[in-house]
Amino acid sequence: MERIVITHSPDETEEVGVGLASHVRDGDVVALVGELGAGKTTFVKGLARGLFVKDVILSPSFLLARSYPGRLPFHHLDAYRITSPHELSEVGLLELLPPADGVTAVEWADRIPDLIPRGAIWVTLEHAGEDRRRITLRR
Ligand SMILES: Nc1ncnc2c1ncn2[C@@H]1O[C@H](COP(=O)(O)OP(=O)(O)OP(=O)(O)O)[C@@H](O)[C@H]1O
Ligand SMILES: [Mg+2]
Repeated sequence: MERIVITHSPDETEEVGVGLASHVRDGDVVALVGELGAGKTTFVKGLARGLFVKDVILSPSFLLARSYPGRLPFHHLDAYRITSPHELSEVGLLELLPPADGVTAVEWADRIPDLIPRGAIWVTLEHAGEDRRRITLRR
């Protein structure tokens, strides 16, 4: 499955995330790819909202990961500073990848491709103008 959507505002990108939430299952990984400011965290906010996560989703950039309760446990991981799988296991984050309970969203997933399971949902965000983004969803 592949779907391409063009959004024209952060709100629209969030809504695409909300829409994906009704398709994810327990154990799914949502692997996000896109340069700085592409809208990965914006998308994750919508995904979390769609999973009935009540907390405010913050960028996990400085903490690497956060977990939230929701329809399913929701884990938000940032691989920006991860340079090796070894590093991920050192900080105890491997537990957030399958067979973890719940749904795990990984920003900068292309930095840890070997750790992203087959069957993950890949979401690529690209700049397509100042407030415009091209979002490609692929399972
Ligand atoms: N159509 C759009 N979709 C998403 N974000 C948009 C859009 N248009 C403009 N923006 C802006 O782009 C920025 C996206 O920021 P966001 O934190 O979601 O990106 P990111 O990919 O997570 O970046 P980082 O790699 O720094 O974590 C925000 O400032 C947002 O207002
Ligand atoms: Mg981000």
